[in-house]
Amino acid sequence: MSNTTYIGKPTSRVDGPAKVTGAAKYSAEFNVPNMAYGWVVSSPIAKGTITKIYADEVLALPGVVQVFSHENVPSLAWFDRNYKDDVAPGGSPFRPLHDNKVKFSQQPVALVIAETLELARYASSVLRIEYEEEKHETSIEDKRDDGFEPGRGKTGWMPPPPPRGNPDKAWENATHRVEAEYVHGAQHHNPMEMFGTTVEWRGEGKITAYDKTQGVVNVQQYLTKIFGLSKDDARVVNLFMGGGFGSGLRPQYQVFLATLAALELKRSVRVTLTRQQMFSFGHRPHTLQYLKLGTNPDGTLAALQHHALHETSQFEDYTENVVNWSGMLYQCENVKLGYQLAKLDVFTPLDMRAPGAATGSFALEVAMDEMAYAAGLDPLDFRIRNYAEKDQNMDKPFSSKKLRDCYHQGAAKFGWDQRNHEPRSMQDENGMLVGWGMAGGVWDASMQKAAAKATLTADGKLLVTSAAGENGTGTYTIMTQIAAQTLGLPIEAVTFKLGDTDFPEAPVQGGSWTAASVGTAVKNVCEAVGEKLLKFAKKMDGSPLDGASMDDVEFVNGQIRLRKDPNQAVVIRDVLQASGESKIETDSSAMPNYLKQMPYSMHSHNAVFAEVKVDPDLGTVHVTRVVNAVAAGRILNTKTARSQVLGSVVWGISMAMMEETVMDHKFGRYMNHNYAEYHVPVNADIHDIDVIFVEEEDDIVNPLGVKGIGEVGLLGVAAAITNAVYHATGKRVRELPLYLDKLL
Ligand code: MOS
Repeated sequence: MSNTTYIGKPTSRVDGPAKVTGAAKYSAEFNVPNMAYGWVVSSPIAKGTITKIYADEVLALPGVVQVFSHENVPSLAWFDRNYKDDVAPGGSPFRPLHDNKVKFSQQPVALVIAETLELARYASSVLRIEYEEEKHETSIEDKRDDGFEPGRGKTGWMPPPPPRGNPDKAWENATHRVEAEYVHGAQHHNPMEMFGTTVEWRGEGKITAYDKTQGVVNVQQYLTKIFGLSKDDARVVNLFMGGGFGSGLRPQYQVFLATLAALELKRSVRVTLTRQQMFSFGHRPHTLQYLKLGTNPDGTLAALQHHALHETSQFEDYTENVVNWSGMLYQCENVKLGYQLAKLDVFTPLDMRAPGAATGSFALEVAMDEMAYAAGLDPLDFRIRNYAEKDQNMDKPFSSKKLRDCYHQGAAKFGWDQRNHEPRSMQDENGMLVGWGMAGGVWDASMQKAAAKATLTADGKLLVTSAAGENGTGTYTIMTQIAAQTLGLPIEAVTFKLGDTDFPEAPVQGGSWTAASVGTAVKNVCEAVGEKLLKFAKKMDGSPLDGASMDDVEFVNGQIRLRKDPNQAVVIRDVLQASGESKIETDSSAMPNYLKQMPYSMHSHNAVFAEVKVDPDLGTVHVTRVVNAVAAGRILNTKTARSQVLGSVVWGISMAMMEETVMDHKFGRYMNHNYAEYHVPVNADIHDIDVIFVEEEDDIVNPLGVKGIGEVGLLGVAAAITNAVYHATGKRVRELPLYLDKLL
């Protein structure tokens, strides 16, 4: 192994020092001269009409610059009314300040601009607005019979496949049967960093928007379409992000408001949202799921039916794949999947980490546990008996699938064979009820088109750029590793920059596709630099590489050397100097090889084993141990990848035990819209977590063989915990979160 082999190595974050020293700048930290501050006024009602805005009263306050509302928003702000951002579902996107209609609680209805943040906040607190309220509907329970099947969904959404076999008859004839409803409430992303945008006015209608987003290109397109700007006029930058989890996939209203104000006032403007306002622009939808499972005498699945109904807004049909996974995770000939939406007076839901799968697999995997008990089988054994060797939804083989290894390695690490099958049969030395549960999941291994640019200078330093995003997942680091290894340069000689629309285009950071998409673009562009280098190297006096092709050489240790005789080498730095060129610069892009991929179903998988301890008197639950075994293709960096899965497990514990945004239907408003009442785990809630990466090779998914690990780790965690709680207590809970009153 050479010292420039980086892919797969546990590598510390290259952006770590900047983040922990405060050198990393977030969108609301860019200070520009002559900046004005905006404060968003949010609607207190869920539905109705704005009848009067007393803007003059606050405009009279010295230092208040402007009050923007539907009364004075320029028509230019709706340049392209039909525009939908990259991640928009069907329907018509919410247009802030468009008219006097209120469509959801906390809707932005005005933006107060002042010379200081404090004044903007004060002025918005005294701004009087009158409304005519209308009756709102915010309960999905009331809409059980009003579900409809969505038409066009967002990118990546697939309607459930048609039924196969005879699911009704097979269920009726099954030896053992299970039938139940599973429910979870709305959940909000709640990244640490609040949404904010600093728009720098560059003069003559040109702006730079420092915006918290998972996709600068998506936001740039939005601004050009909405405000009729050219791409040169609207540069979008986001270098660091304090967490996204999906909340930054779509352009959020603060970027619209800050840009509107900057263009109108011809000066720089910053708009930041409050924690409470972070609950006003998208959430994991409140979902009701119904499952029916039946088994044959040999413990194989005879029938599987899964139906989901979730909320959407009045103006968009938000879609996610909730039930499709149930048709592919297990072998079953008789399957019926249903998926419906119901319209409520809420904001459009929004992708939240493993959207659809995190919740669909929760219901499926709890139902599978119930089925295993009904059939008298060990839950792990039951799953292995029903292992799917191919994707029955698409009738295609998997490009690779090491879920069986996840089951076996996870179970071995956890000690599953020591489990006593009977509920309420295990106790620890303190009299706590001990429960062991397991579950798992499947997620897409996808790739999007992405581009990158590389510049190698005569000093031997390489700069690679791409307009990709970095949610905090480790993108800076893995791209640096890929570039360094591809050109055989020491990692210190490589800089990777992202998050700027001046760089080559990249997709939003989401869907766990960044490593595959941007990673392949980075690999390609570095190989292109390598080809140019080799050309120059061959022209050097007495070059040992004379006549060599790219296949004959390797880039290692700052050298280009012959594979068959590594002593025959030239030093990369010498090549550029001998060539007389000051730099090599090249662009490249990557996209999926559709022809190669067409015959296959491409997915990552995981298996989760959880231990809980439940106080038999108090009903308190502690998640004492979790093992998460993940098969996600090649792991580029075992350190950042492990951190991703650790974060997923923490979130899964949170989803199982704590998280829920509760709607007060009287007001049509989330009542716990703050960190005090929207509970997430603290250190004391988290105990042992083990992450296993199962070896999985796949040359179909992309040249790097990576499947992405940002989302798959969350699957099965909440279900494994729920199943463990059943095992500990004998109480089957089908509604998240597992508050202790459900156990008493
Ligand atoms: Mo992810 S929910 O695609 O950011």
